[in-house]
Amino acid sequence: MIKIAPSLLAADMGDLRRSVADVEQAGADYLHLDVMDGTFVPNISYGAAVIKALRPGSALFFDVHLMVEEPGRFLADFAAAGADLLTVHYEACRHLHRVIQQIKALGLKAGVALNPATPVEVLTDILPEIDLLLLMSVNPGFGGQSFIPSSTAKIARAAALLQKAGSTAELEVDGGIYAGNAGQVIKAGANVLVSGTGVFGQPDWAAAIAGLRSAD
Ligand code: DX5
Ligand code: ZN
Repeated sequence: MIKIAPSLLAADMGDLRRSVADVEQAGADYLHLDVMDGTFVPNISYGAAVIKALRPGSALFFDVHLMVEEPGRFLADFAAAGADLLTVHYEACRHLHRVIQQIKALGLKAGVALNPATPVEVLTDILPEIDLLLLMSVNPGFGGQSFIPSSTAKIARAAALLQKAGSTAELEVDGGIYAGNAGQVIKAGANVLVSGTGVFGQPDWAAAIAGLRSAD
């Protein structure tokens, strides 16, 4: 089943609570929450306090994407805020295995994200430990960028790697996904599609989510 994870980064920052309620109503599967620290990526977004404030108003699965240097320092804060899954960047963790164990010890699902330049093979030895593999199809830091075309072949390589390892981890893709290119992302093997502008930037969010889900 294809899951759609609208990225709140593209929503109205002055009315986040309403955006979350409306996108849940519109059929979102996950809520993708982009946390940026201004060091790992050249932008700052929002942190655990904002996620905590949104939690009581939503039953959505909170898919938190930490674009944060050494995220191990903040995992407990995001768990307490109500995250369901924490995704950390391979490039941001000196001791990735330890960070993954810490996320799981907090009772949350654990994901690992890869930047466009990082090959999927670096995750070979950690695959049995993770619940989700997130491939960035743009360089992280900003919404509204263009999908990097070589991402499609990389998704297929990641899907093959997961299959070979007998992994049941989800394969999520993030960046520049719209109805027009969602089909190729799904065909390559992704099952969770993040979309910011492709949902919140559209006039009809329910139609946008349905369009992404059924794209071919
Ligand atoms: C980028 C973020 C994305 C972003 C996607 O650093 O990780 O989740 O919000 O936005 P769009 O779909 O507009 O490219
Ligand atoms: Zn993201």
